[in-house]
Amino acid sequence: SGSDITGYGVTDMAMPLLETKRSRNDVGNKVTVVLGAQWGDEGKGKVVDLLATEADVVCRCQGGNNAGHTVVVDGKEYDFHLLPSGIINPKSISLIGNGVVIHLPGLFEEGDKNEKKGLKGWEKRLIVSDRAHLVFDFYQIVDSLQETERQAQEGKNIGTTKKGIGPAYSSKASRTGLRVCDLLGDFKDFSNRFKNIVQQYQSMYPSLTVDVEDQLKKLKEYAERLRPMVRDGVYYMYEALHGPPKKVLVEGANAALLDIDFGTYPFVTSSNCTVGGACTGLGIPPLNIGDVFGVAKAYTTRVGIGAFPTEQLNVIGELLQTRGHEVGVTTGRKRRCGWLDLVIVRYAHMINGFTAIALTKLDILDVLDEIKVGVAYKLNGKRIPHFPANMDVLHKVEVEYETFPGWKTDTSAARKWNDLPAKAQNYIRFIENHIGVPIKWVGVGKSRECMIQMF
Ligand code: GDP
Ligand code: IMO
Ligand code: MG
Repeated sequence: SGSDITGYGVTDMAMPLLETKRSRNDVGNKVTVVLGAQWGDEGKGKVVDLLATEADVVCRCQGGNNAGHTVVVDGKEYDFHLLPSGIINPKSISLIGNGVVIHLPGLFEEGDKNEKKGLKGWEKRLIVSDRAHLVFDFYQIVDSLQETERQAQEGKNIGTTKKGIGPAYSSKASRTGLRVCDLLGDFKDFSNRFKNIVQQYQSMYPSLTVDVEDQLKKLKEYAERLRPMVRDGVYYMYEALHGPPKKVLVEGANAALLDIDFGTYPFVTSSNCTVGGACTGLGIPPLNIGDVFGVAKAYTTRVGIGAFPTEQLNVIGELLQTRGHEVGVTTGRKRRCGWLDLVIVRYAHMINGFTAIALTKLDILDVLDEIKVGVAYKLNGKRIPHFPANMDVLHKVEVEYETFPGWKTDTSAARKWNDLPAKAQNYIRFIENHIGVPIKWVGVGKSRECMIQMF
């Protein structure tokens, strides 16, 4: 351990300073980004786990514990919410970037829970950016109160995860938020600012009660457990990108259609879940972005409220829900299910510029007689080239489908392209051509080995 060079007791900062790289030809290491291309739960955790076996650093750049990422290794199922799925790899470092909002009780509960399942030494492998904002317990209560208010005022809510994500990002944007560096700094100052935010929210929601002293006592304890993990995230990433060759992986949370700017607003989350979020959420230049992998299910699901043009409110939807075990990892809610919507995946590609796609859960379609794919939206009988911003319009679109014969064969044991039935190959090739991005992986089961790598 070294001396405190942050002013709030964080030691061990990497030293000495690296020379600043100035040449555009010497951009340093590239990071690989994994992003959801639909409404979430596409299987990002599984794809990250696959890539993390070779990664040196695995980062989260946005979202909070609204995310729920499942990883199945050696028959054991782990679910991660705030921890990057790469935490499972004992050889890699996990980093929670400045763009993430952190609920400290949630973070430690998650680590401890997974430790009981066999995850070892996670606290030693975790780095937390000092610029990340905090999610307080009472933000979760406010999240619920806001949902109740939406229901009362508009007759519908968003169906949030009630993890306090909206209030945390709202406080961040309104510049009253508190960050990890504040928690580790002067605690008196932190306490005063904490009390001010509580007061602000209480004036908006008079029914909100907060035991301020109890909260502060707990936060102080969490601060000490957190302190050894905290670093200047920008400098940490700078070193990782400009030191010796390193493999850096970024795990997106939530997904393109839940993005605060590009998603189905207002039925979205409160952060940028598209590729820009990797830069702003970690403090890395766009030139350091390498491969951008989009993860898409072979069908579509959505949790919560909002337009869903290919939704199947019938036996098909029910079959996908039960066969696919489509239940939210974070909230336990049943996921809404429908046919693969290539309009949304192409839209996600316009924003993210995917270099390849991971198509997951193909095996769930094994029993279907025929399979449909949404290929275009029509408005008043005419195809539209864009994805509508206005939710009333999106509710009105008519989906144009392409129909494929089902392969009616168990694909769960397939490990290479040639093991797949011709009809499944046909389905995959059609998707690839329609999006215009190569499919690099096809998922045929939950566990690590149930992934066909195409190239
Ligand atoms: P994430 O939020 O994108 O990481 O995805 P979730 O973990 O919320 O949901 C994906 C679910 O599908 C998890 O239960 C995974 O174990 C499971 N899964 C992922 N890929 C496949 C696949 O190819 N086949 C099957 N049957 N299940 C998969
Ligand atoms: P992963 O990373 C699916 C949805 C919620 C709700 C909306 C807003 O596992 O793919 P929030 O709590 O963020 O304010 O809720 O966004 N949502 C997700 N749906 N997967 C997720 O994450 C989600 N994160 C948020 O259901 O509709
Ligand atoms: Mg999930």
